[in-house]
Amino acid sequence: MAYYKCPVCGEKLSLNGNSYVCPSRHTFDVAKEGYVNFLTAKDKHAKSPGDNKEMILSRRAIMDEGYYRPISDYVTSEYSLDGTTVLDVGCGEGYLTREISKYCSCYGIDISKEAIRLCAKADKKIFYSVASMTRLPFFDNEFDFVFSLFAPYHAEEIARVLKGEFIVCTPDKRHLFELKEMLYDTPVENPEQDYTLKGFKTERQDKVRGTFASNKQNVLPLLKMTPYYYRTPQSAIEKLSELGDGFKKEISLEFVITTYSKE
Ligand SMILES: C[S@@+](CC[C@H](N)C(=O)[O-])C[C@H]1O[C@@H](n2cnc3c(N)ncnc32)[C@H](O)[C@@H]1O
Ligand SMILES: [Zn+2]
Repeated sequence: MAYYKCPVCGEKLSLNGNSYVCPSRHTFDVAKEGYVNFLTAKDKHAKSPGDNKEMILSRRAIMDEGYYRPISDYVTSEYSLDGTTVLDVGCGEGYLTREISKYCSCYGIDISKEAIRLCAKADKKIFYSVASMTRLPFFDNEFDFVFSLFAPYHAEEIARVLKGEFIVCTPDKRHLFELKEMLYDTPVENPEQDYTLKGFKTERQDKVRGTFASNKQNVLPLLKMTPYYYRTPQSAIEKLSELGDGFKKEISLEFVITTYSKE
């Protein structure tokens, strides 16, 4: 169990009726879906920051087809989550958050209100908040595990709230390569990454593999949840809309999962 920290003055927030209130009376109401919004004007660089509703709903549809199952299977078998306190940073529509919450006390934050609203509707026992990862609404050394899946993160802020391990999932070289082949004349592999992280020691790194059975119905939502959607010419996107009813293709899922501890 972790406590929320007031984003205005840094004091402890306590739940009073339907609001979190600090000793200086800064008040954050719990929305009807059950989440709390801690974003202040200085955390926002856009009117509606983070992933938009279309991206989030596409992500939810694809997750419902088991896209992240290789990751959740890996996480729930490789880490001792029982009885721990866990944070999922940039949790999106919350697939992993929901899976790990079966074992632990679980917190999810995302800067996208649409994402958190959808998360909170799906699960009432997870503590969800709208917040920026550059200013997490938590005290120091609170979390046994912090997860970041396909999300940006702020290493110093993670180190501050972490007491245990930080687990990062990123795409490997040929992640979604067959999708790229459908879109581009000369698809390229994802570049080699530098996995070193200042202030952290790498404890382990594993490659987790899977496949996604794409078809006419799910191939466009799959593209929409990726950053390629905004970089791909409209003509290539239209090719996906014109695929025949019998279209089927196995698409490679290649994840790299890196576990860090604080130095
Ligand atoms: C590619 S999605 C990944 C979502 C989820 N972890 C998953 O794997 O399904 C990246 C997420 O990071 C969130 N995000 C981007 N910048 C953020 C920030 N500064 N603070 C918190 N969340 C942020 C986006 O709103 C989005 O939901
Ligand atoms: Zn306060």
